[in-house]
Amino acid sequence: MSEDGKERTVELRYEGGSHPLPLLTGTEGDEAFEVKTLLAATGKVTLDPGFANTAACQSKITYIDGEAGILRYRGYPIQELAAGSSFLEVCYLLIHGELPAPGELKEFSEQLRANAELPAEMRTMLDALPRNGHPMTLLASAVNTLAAFYADTTDPHDTEQVERATILLLAKLPTIAARIYRNSINEAPVAPDESLDYVENFLRMTFGELSGEAELDALFVKAMDLLLILHADHEQNCSTATVRVVGSSQADLYGSVSAGINALFGPLHGGANQAVLEMLEEIRQLNGDVDSFIAKVKDKESKTRLMGFGHRVYKNFDPRSREIKGLASEILARQERPDELFELALRLENKALADSYFTDRKLYPNVDFYSGVIYRAMGFPTTMFTVLFALGRLPGWIAHWREQRLDPAARIARPRQLYVGPAQRSYPGQA
Ligand code: CMC
Repeated sequence: MSEDGKERTVELRYEGGSHPLPLLTGTEGDEAFEVKTLLAATGKVTLDPGFANTAACQSKITYIDGEAGILRYRGYPIQELAAGSSFLEVCYLLIHGELPAPGELKEFSEQLRANAELPAEMRTMLDALPRNGHPMTLLASAVNTLAAFYADTTDPHDTEQVERATILLLAKLPTIAARIYRNSINEAPVAPDESLDYVENFLRMTFGELSGEAELDALFVKAMDLLLILHADHEQNCSTATVRVVGSSQADLYGSVSAGINALFGPLHGGANQAVLEMLEEIRQLNGDVDSFIAKVKDKESKTRLMGFGHRVYKNFDPRSREIKGLASEILARQERPDELFELALRLENKALADSYFTDRKLYPNVDFYSGVIYRAMGFPTTMFTVLFALGRLPGWIAHWREQRLDPAARIARPRQLYVGPAQRSYPGQA
């Protein structure tokens, strides 16, 4: 709408006609041509591989300005949330739209503590899954089965069931993830401890009794909490878009989130944090030859990417990567010897940012570039890195699924295509 309340439109002209398209404006001044009447009015569709120019919904959850490097959850800058909030507060904020009052946060936290344990059959099931399977595959499978264990919380039309599913999913994901990890190293699982808060409980279920000096443990808890906050939402990224697409068919929350976990697993998405560490290891094997690696990345024939660099939306520094780099320095400074992979990452970043291949394409470090070196310092194996991303992204997935559920404009996701295959032809022998 313009200031005088009139609908603003742009005229789309094409050979043989024209069609007015409403021009919509978001809170921060972003604009969108609304094309929902296009096919019916013109018989034509838009073609947009990777949806790079397509807004699939209107959303009130997260704002990103990729050119300016801005990220806000529900209006709050990520830097302020990182400095002042806990992950649980951020979960509540994303899901319910406002920061919790102290009483609300207490109740939320108590509900999560009380529901962290898994049903006995689920524990048996998890213990029977292949122990050398990738934790992301196992996590997605386990989350999907929550719909069977809690079938009375799967109706997307029933608000009470949705509230219950929200709590169950948030409460149980850390327990599932920790059990998958303990199984992978053939260690006995550690049951959740209701006296601990969300992040402490997860670290304890993962590593058992936390070893080392108390101060170091506190830093790890703080680091984990911060990393989860920084990963908690990122508007319509691949996995969140997947959760929405699956949810748009009115599939239950567990199945939608399970699909999101599988989308996150891909190396171009959340799997990049594992891929970054593997890349750094590869460079270390090459005696730390950063120049040769950068040359390989620039050679398109090699199909090698600088993992942890580039972003569909950020054409500037990813604000999350700055926070994570600072955290990595803080954590690694405590180690007796300098961390070789962190040093390599710093050299790689400097080299790339001084190279026109990367600057011309606006490729900067993203959230995954430094997170892996922190997870490694905390003792997580690389295969668990993307699981940690999933733990952080869970409230975002839930918030989007819930927002779509209540959106009167939401419809089943069903994109169109431009068919370019063979024209009609006869089956051999039928002509
Ligand atoms: N290394 C080398 N070249 C790159 C990279 C990279 N990491 N990223 C993009 N490019 C080049 C790409 O080859 C292309 O060059 P040209 O124009 O000469 O063909 C140009 O930059 C544009 O790339 P694109 O693939 O069209 O960009 P996209 O928006 O489709 O892809 C991306 C975004 C994140 C998938 C991509 O930058 C990438 O593959 N990065 C490495 C993987 C990674 O770190 N992923 C984590 C993303 S952040 C966490 C998350 O949200 O999941």
